Amino acid sequence: MRISVIGAGYVGLVLGSCMAESGVDVELIDIDHGRVRLLNKGMVPLHEPGLKELLVSNLEAGGIAFTASYPKGLRGAQVAFVAVGTPPLQDGGADLSGVKAAAAEVARYAAADLVLAIKSTVPVGTASQVRQLLADEGRTDIEVISNPEFLREGRAVEDFLHPDRVVIGTNSAEAARLMKSLYRRFLDSDIPVMVMDNASAEMTKYASNAFLATRISFVNEIANICEHVEANVDDVVRAMGADRRIGSHYLYPGCGYGGSCFPKDVQALINMANGNRYAASLLSSVHQTNINQKRRLGEKIADYFAGTLRGRMIGVWGLSFKENTDDVRESPSLTLIDYLVGKGARVQVFDPASLHRVPDIFPDGVTACRDQYDAVRDADALAVVTPWEQFRSPDWERVKSLLKHPAVFDGRNLYDPDQLMDMGFAYDGFGRPNGHQIRPVLQDSDLVDTQLITQG
Ligand SMILES: NC(=O)c1ccc[n+]([C@@H]2O[C@H](COP(=O)([O-])OP(=O)(O)OC[C@H]3O[C@@H](n4cnc5c(N)ncnc54)[C@H](O)[C@@H]3O)[C@@H](O)[C@H]2O)c1
Repeated sequence: MRISVIGAGYVGLVLGSCMAESGVDVELIDIDHGRVRLLNKGMVPLHEPGLKELLVSNLEAGGIAFTASYPKGLRGAQVAFVAVGTPPLQDGGADLSGVKAAAAEVARYAAADLVLAIKSTVPVGTASQVRQLLADEGRTDIEVISNPEFLREGRAVEDFLHPDRVVIGTNSAEAARLMKSLYRRFLDSDIPVMVMDNASAEMTKYASNAFLATRISFVNEIANICEHVEANVDDVVRAMGADRRIGSHYLYPGCGYGGSCFPKDVQALINMANGNRYAASLLSSVHQTNINQKRRLGEKIADYFAGTLRGRMIGVWGLSFKENTDDVRESPSLTLIDYLVGKGARVQVFDPASLHRVPDIFPDGVTACRDQYDAVRDADALAVVTPWEQFRSPDWERVKSLLKHPAVFDGRNLYDPDQLMDMGFAYDGFGRPNGHQIRPVLQDSDLVDTQLITQG
């Protein structure tokens, strides 16, 4: 069997490599000629554990190839997956130009009776739009199905091979059968493959990401309240998570969520609701809470230095939006660094995978360091943003001897506050009663009037 994958990014490369590993012939198409050249040499332009090994072994075995040519890439394919980016537009909606451009090429070059599987995250109704676009080109033979992807960067290969479920949106029994046979090549038999209509499959992806984002904003809100009432969010979360109705996943307080999915997907869902004259007030709060939370680490540091950061040097550990990836899209670290530089501070940053991005995105005043200890040398404080394994148990004596001022701002609640304070550090995390707590004092007018709410 032969398939095409359109878009050789995080999703397309993982999908293509895993399918090739299962014995399918895979041709990956990308409009980025430079990327195609690198990939054909076995060079993977992104950091994803296990991906390079999988890709190179299948490239050497001839099971996967890369091209910028649609006619070549689509030749002989029974299924073509669309895995191009769907970045946010100014109004929060999803930019579908890549998906539509890919569909136009498919209309021109695909063989008869292709199944076109939309893997990109797309608003409800996109499959219908693509179907119409193909019909306008006379291609009613192509079956458009939805097949949203749920993998997480940093463990994408593992997630793709061992998902919790596979979702297929189609009304065609034949297309559903073909897709199931593709996935069953590698899926464990107990993994459900759920077939539903296009709209429900498209919505499942947004609803899942919006729910996870909601849990994060929820626990961050609880952590912020904990700071005001001297409760300890670690204990609260431990006890909440033990409730099987709640569970402990995605209940980690910190400096907010980032990445290429949660922020854009929550906004796209709000935009989709607005477009249908429904005000998604819960999701708007989730989004706004996260924007505020991403600023809080910087605000905590500024408050600690009595509001003025001019002339301060801050060491930052972590640039990627999470560990085990080089993806910096919407990373809380970018928000923090912009905030610090905007307040007149300078920054020394270290990240194990994404430092090559520093010259592209930062102004003067931000230095990329070769290791995590260089980033704290002569700094006034350390801020930890990304929970990479190597940041979890550093040599604290060394950190203390390098810092000009022993202050640690823990953006992911990675450390034991008592341990750090016993060693002479000033410490602040999120929702923890110990350590140096900074509680911004709000005006009465900033507070939510619960009396008004109860009176309806
Ligand atoms: N990254 C994730 O963790 C993740 C998880 C689940 C779903 N998704 C969704 O999957 C989609 C892809 O995400 P990604 O992170 O892999 O994106 P990405 O930005 O890493 O990669 C997209 C690739 O598509 C290529 N491309 C763009 N337009 C093209 C076109 N017309 N023809 C051929 N190639 C084209 C780009 O050059 C790029 O290499 C998005 O909709 C995203 O929301 C992403």
